[in-house]
Amino acid sequence: MADLWQSAMDHAVAIARKAGEVVREALVDERKVMTKSSSVDLVTQTDQKVEQLIIQSVKEKFPTHKFIGEESVAAGESCVLTDSPTWIIDPIDGTTNFVHAFPFIAVSIGFSVKKQMEFGVVYSCLEDKMYTARKGKGAFCNGEPLQVSAQQDIKQSIIATEFGSSRDPETVDNIFRSLRSILCIPVHGVRGAGTAAINMCLVASGSVEAYYEIGIHVWDVAAGSLIVSEAGGVLVDVEGGDVDLMSRRIVAANSRTIAQRIVKEIASFSPSRDDAPPAKQ
Ligand code: IPD
Repeated sequence: MADLWQSAMDHAVAIARKAGEVVREALVDERKVMTKSSSVDLVTQTDQKVEQLIIQSVKEKFPTHKFIGEESVAAGESCVLTDSPTWIIDPIDGTTNFVHAFPFIAVSIGFSVKKQMEFGVVYSCLEDKMYTARKGKGAFCNGEPLQVSAQQDIKQSIIATEFGSSRDPETVDNIFRSLRSILCIPVHGVRGAGTAAINMCLVASGSVEAYYEIGIHVWDVAAGSLIVSEAGGVLVDVEGGDVDLMSRRIVAANSRTIAQRIVKEIASFSPSRDDAPPAKQ
């Protein structure tokens, strides 16, 4: 089986690179923007085209595998992780960046078997950085090994986070409460690339000590979660327990010390889970 997953990973790298080309080409065209759950939850035809490109190409090679894809779920497909080999795809992580040509955009492909991530591929397509990780085999960027930062003092740290796509005032208040507490620790700085996948790769690279967010989706973080853990980092829930990729809450950090310090400052809340059954009409 090990070799089969290696060939799946090689395929993921090749198709992520191809998808990145499509994204780069689309950036020079006018982008037709549509909305999903709210007026700031954006999608473009390129998101849909790239997801179909990835799924079609994987299906030809691995016809029995399952998929969880951001745009397929938006179109009504289920978002339940089973024991089956499953490709978890975000065709464009950073759609708002893509719409505005803000230069951080990723193609994110995670692969799970028996609900465990086997490999993760994040292609930061404007920087041409291919981040990869395979379970038990380390994390890499363009083939160079990645290692999280060794910093254990939160006061000497940079923390990444995002504002997400909810504009519900209560949610925004919680986001600002967390941000205020973390800034006032004080930390050296707070940053956000506008894509969860790249934020997690920045943790894996040692450029930031941690990334946290409430409101992300499984496709935003599946690949990045393995890249962080294979680079020596840790993943926890925002209340400090085990991370659950369907819960839409994550802290990814260089160490348990930094993760638990952030957990202490987060104003936690629980968005509806990715695998929640659809609400009855
Ligand atoms: C979004 C990005 C963003 C994060 C949102 C995600 P999308 O993904 O990762 O950084 O704040 O929570 O939904 O919609 O661009 O694929």
